[in-house]
This record gives sequence, C-alpha cells and structure tokens, in this order.
Amino acid sequence: MTALGDNGLERHPHFVSLEGGEGAGKTTVLNALRDALLQAGHEVVSTREPGGTPMAEQIRNLLLNVPVDGVQHEPPAAETELLLMFAARAQHVRETILPALARGAWVISDRFTDSSYAYQGGGRGIDSAFIAELEHHVVGIQPGLTLLLDLGVAQGRERTRGRDLYPDRIERERDDFFEKVRSAFLARARAEPERMRVIDATQSAAEVAADAVAILRMFIARTKASG
Ligand code: TMP
Repeated sequence: MTALGDNGLERHPHFVSLEGGEGAGKTTVLNALRDALLQAGHEVVSTREPGGTPMAEQIRNLLLNVPVDGVQHEPPAAETELLLMFAARAQHVRETILPALARGAWVISDRFTDSSYAYQGGGRGIDSAFIAELEHHVVGIQPGLTLLLDLGVAQGRERTRGRDLYPDRIERERDDFFEKVRSAFLARARAEPERMRVIDATQSAAEVAADAVAILRMFIARTKASG
C-alpha cells in the first residue's frame, strides 16, 4: 500500500500531515479531515508534533520551554533543538504512527518532518542535507499527503494575538525568523507538488477546511485509481 517518494522514503497513503505557521487554522482543518474520514467509516488517529506519545510530549515541554515546577530551563542550541525534534519524532513514528497505519487506521498529524526543514532548516539555518540524513535514518516514512496552510506572517500574528497569553519559546521569535520559515515551507511545496498541497489560509476557517476536505477526497480517489 505504500509508494516511494522521489527521495526514496516510503509514502503512506493513509498518513496526512498539516503544516503552516501560527494562526493558519490547523486545528479546524484537522477536525474537518477527521470528521470526513470518520463519516466514511475509517478509524482515525489524530496526533501532533513535537509530541504524540507520553515521552515525546515531555520532549515537547523541554523544546517549547514550558517551565517545570516554575523553573525555566536554558534555551536549546539550534542543533539541540533539531535533535530533540527528531528524538520526539523517532518515538512518535514507532509508538503511534506505524502501529496505527499497520492496523489500517488513518493518521492525521499536526506537523511532521516538513516543520523541521522549515523551522530548523529555514529559520535556524541548519543544512537541509543534514536534516535529510536524519529523516532517512530516524524517520524513514513520509505522509502521502501534506497540506500546507499558507498565511503571511503579519496576518498570522494578528490572528494569534490575544489567543496566546503565554507564547512559547518559538512563538516569541521575530518576524524575520517566521518569514524564513514560510519561504522554506513554500520551497518544499514547490519541490514536491504531488505530496504537498498549498491552501490559501487567508480565507475563512470554514473555506480553508472545505478546501482541505476537497483535496483529501481527490487524493483518496487518485490513490484508489492508481492502486
Ligand atoms: P504548535 O503545536 O503550535 O504547532 O507548536 C509546535 C512548535 O514547534 C511550532 O512553533 C513549530 C515548532 N516545530 C519545529 O520547530 N520543528 C519541528 O520539527 C516541529 C514538529 C515543530
């Protein structure tokens, strides 16, 4: 049931990831996709990164600098940040994603490896060839479909203003960091147009969700036709 992407990674047709910056509406889309799949009679596992297992959620707290017992730990170096993202992902893939796919469930993940290319590659400037090595050795799989909810940085900030009373360590980055993240996401979508589809997230949440469901349905029809 899996296909090989251009980069040799296995693409799972029941594995969907959502990507994009802050305020783009990933949660609404995740719920809409989950509902559409449930209505079609599928088991759905919705999950997130960093996170998705108890240990990976602990790594998430470290990464986003959630204080433990009121104590804030030191900010990680860029390389530490990258490796912790992949440590969490290694656990997430083995403990949550692969077992779910193996029993025939659909998996929808709020972020996956594309976020590492965008944030640690684009944003922090880590060599994408190194990230690709980690992706091959530690992850080994790709979603069959990735939806990139694209939104300008200023608009994203506008939407999250007031929602995030306590922005996490990454949310506190400056606009030029998020511009680089956005460019890196868009460059990845241009490089892998078959897997990664861009949705205009300046639309209303309902319109974005409707686009996402339509793309998912087309993807399912195409996968069936080719399988
Ligand atoms: P979110 O749950 O608000 O999307 O927060 C997760 C944060 O972690 C977000 O700022 C993006 C960041 N992140 C990375 O920097 N690299 C990664 O590989 C992943 C999965 C997330």
